[in-house]
Amino acid sequence: MTQKRSFKSVGIIGTGSYVPEKVLTNLDLEKMVETSDEWIRTRTGIKERRILDKEKGSSYMAIKAAEKALEAAKLEPEDIDLIIVATVTPDMMFPSTACLVQEGLKCKNAAAFDLEAACSGFLYGLTVAYSFVRSGVYSNILLIGTEALSRITDWTDRNTCVLFGDGAGAAVISEVPEGRGVLGLDLGADGEGKNLLKLAAGGSLMPATEETIRNKQHYIHMEGNEVFKFAVRKMEEISLKVVEKSKLEICDIDYLVPHQANIRIIESARKKLRLDEDKVYVNLENYGNMSSASIPVALDEAVRKNKIKDNDVVLLIGFGGGLTWGAMVLRWYSKGGF
Ligand code: UT7
Repeated sequence: MTQKRSFKSVGIIGTGSYVPEKVLTNLDLEKMVETSDEWIRTRTGIKERRILDKEKGSSYMAIKAAEKALEAAKLEPEDIDLIIVATVTPDMMFPSTACLVQEGLKCKNAAAFDLEAACSGFLYGLTVAYSFVRSGVYSNILLIGTEALSRITDWTDRNTCVLFGDGAGAAVISEVPEGRGVLGLDLGADGEGKNLLKLAAGGSLMPATEETIRNKQHYIHMEGNEVFKFAVRKMEEISLKVVEKSKLEICDIDYLVPHQANIRIIESARKKLRLDEDKVYVNLENYGNMSSASIPVALDEAVRKNKIKDNDVVLLIGFGGGLTWGAMVLRWYSKGGF
């Protein structure tokens, strides 16, 4: 007799987030580079961003966000069997930031690794976590997007320094009742866009030298216009694709949590998808673009503000360096708390 294979339903059972206290406003930036509050607000939607204290690293924020996610999930650190950290700003090249988080949280039963997919990192991580739980390899996975982008920002380059901020968001991924949790997902990449958004030096191809420092190759380089066009195109394309894969229609979406890069990108997607403004979570005016932390911070805020409720159909969309993109549809499951 052949045994019927059964896959688990998988969802997010708790979220948490953390942003540093220090605020850098557009007015502060006016004193640093040739820019204006008006230009930044109208071109990006950003008003201020948070900056991590000099002596701390991404793992500090990750631990803070993860503690809240564990509390919301009503789990103890020992219950976690895998930690995945999505980041482009690890504390160091190695060991992984996930190992530092494992130690900091005392998740003594957890394996740990980092994952890098730039601003799509949280969605890539969710897909990995989903697959592990669905197949029964792991039961409770802690996924964190954490970024100290202020460390890799050239504060003399007005093209980029107005855009980014620091923060961390976390989620616990576990089995949920049937019919809840992940309904569909889609990931993609296009390495041909590798030069549009990158940090060139400090890796094996171009190790740190006096010259790389002089040439400012340890900072984010972005061809904003090209990334903008790609983002607008992809947001619509992947939303339609993932909704179809989930066997739903766009009108079934109760809430959209997009990557927070630029209000004009979000608005363009919202209009093309014909979603009302109150169905889309936007917080980039407060934090700027926090890369892999943007979606989990926005998701946590939306859940805690009760914008996302039990049984809602939630669409997450991200895009970024690589180029990479990802989307996921979930039927939300509230485990009696956040
Ligand atoms: O999360 C990863 C994905 N990243 C993104 O999604 C970012 C996508 N790109 C964008 O959001 C936009 O392209 C930017 C906000 C980066 C730039 O907006 P834009 O409308 O594409 O502006 P632009 O680059 O075409 O620049 C327009 C003008 C230029 O001046 P000229 O050449 O027309 O004289 C820039 O030099 O605005 C100038 N400019 C600024 N002026 C004041 C660029 N940055 C600034 C600034 N303040 N901070």
